[in-house]
Amino acid sequence: METRRIADILRQGQAEESVTIRGWIRTTRELKGFAFMEVNDGSFLANLQVVLDQSVPDYDKLLKQLSTGASVAVKGVLVPSQGRGQRLELKATSVVIYGESDPETYPLQKKRHSFEFLRTIAHLRSRTNTLGAVFRVRNASAAAIHQFFQERSFLWIHSPIITANDCEGAGELFRVTNLNLESIPKTDKDSVDYSQDFFGSPAYLTVSGQLQAEVMAMSFENVYTFGPTFRAENSNTSRHLAEFWMVEPEMAFCDLEGDQDLAEEFLKYIFQYVLEKCPEDMEFFNQRIDKSVLKTADNIIKNEFERISYSEAIALLTKANRQFEYPVEWGLDLQSEHERYLAEELFKKPVIVRDYPVGIKAFYMRLNSDSKTVAAIDVLVPKIGEIIGGSQREERLEVLQNRLEQKGIAEEDLWWYLDLRRYGTVPHAGFGLGFERMVQFMTGMANIRDVIPFPRTPLSAQF
Ligand code: 4AD
Ligand code: MG
Repeated sequence: METRRIADILRQGQAEESVTIRGWIRTTRELKGFAFMEVNDGSFLANLQVVLDQSVPDYDKLLKQLSTGASVAVKGVLVPSQGRGQRLELKATSVVIYGESDPETYPLQKKRHSFEFLRTIAHLRSRTNTLGAVFRVRNASAAAIHQFFQERSFLWIHSPIITANDCEGAGELFRVTNLNLESIPKTDKDSVDYSQDFFGSPAYLTVSGQLQAEVMAMSFENVYTFGPTFRAENSNTSRHLAEFWMVEPEMAFCDLEGDQDLAEEFLKYIFQYVLEKCPEDMEFFNQRIDKSVLKTADNIIKNEFERISYSEAIALLTKANRQFEYPVEWGLDLQSEHERYLAEELFKKPVIVRDYPVGIKAFYMRLNSDSKTVAAIDVLVPKIGEIIGGSQREERLEVLQNRLEQKGIAEEDLWWYLDLRRYGTVPHAGFGLGFERMVQFMTGMANIRDVIPFPRTPLSAQF
């Protein structure tokens, strides 16, 4: 008999159907002459309740082995459930144990564990209700992202993980080398001799696939990347990871208006898709994690995002009757507290801030006609702050060359990027969505470490 996933059974199973399921035991309960166990196979938030009685072969022996954490296959018949909370249960006719689990030492006990504790057992935490729901929502969000772009004929491109460029210019690069760190080869001038390194020059883990996405947009018009990116920023916050996934669409023949429109449509689409695919998980987050999760989703889908300029944002923050920790002043970057004030308290919905001061943004952003600001956008959302960063790119060769010079970036290092401005340049724009911040925003999870299976943060790369 074919095995069925528990989600399928709980959604559309019928009484009297014969089924086989496999999974891991969440709880067992023994009564006189029969026993219940709850089995979960990761496909669904709820467990399937299994009833065993003495008609099951080896019943007495099984009872000693069936404990929380053990892996089993159960064959049986679906019957209407007497108990509350489920429509059907599985009356077992036979049970096979794949692997036992010692109830004395199994780290996941029936009580509620803190997320901090669960991080120390990242190899088991996906068997809990919350992390299970997180990873299903994460999966659905990823599927939504691909579907969104594929429906619009964006080409998915695979940007490199290893690169020689610091796209964001923030110096938060992890170095990639196979030099022997115990005896580093030196040049005559006593600096590191990178000619002896694997790539013959310094190499890093990428902070963004944008520059390569721009290349591909100049031949395919609309493209997107979706992959891991790395930042060696020493920020121990609930919104920073050293390794995170980023989605970066890049569009030729597009300006900052089009960029904002896409960002807004994109976020709405992901929320809509996940609500449709994972209603039980979203309901669970709303009940157990953050009571505003469903209201937030509804708000995202139904309302237009607010759109303001950086200068307007500074004026609003200055007017706010509020003691911020960091100064508010034209020319300074917005801090998380400022971003959250705008999105969470003032507008109570996502806010797109555009036209930031040239001095605080990356070299590739298009210089506005005022020469003081660049055509950049940040999408700010309640609780998280910045979830998307993007811009129209500088497509004019000379202006870009000036920007590089001002930033002290050598033209030789980006000759190919400049070539795009020499041969068939067009206005183009794009943005980057921090995938984990999006999942965090959607689920209401307080810490970004709990929305990625194996988080990498300062001093932590276990599992
Ligand atoms: O604003 P950022 O740095 O933009 C870029 O990298 C551009 N090259 C994107 C583009 O235009 N193609 O990063 C984009 C987003 C941020 O808005 C944030 O959501 C997320 O990436 N992000 C992080 N997420 C988790 N941990 C970190 N350390 C992050 N740094 C940025
Ligand atoms: Mg940014």
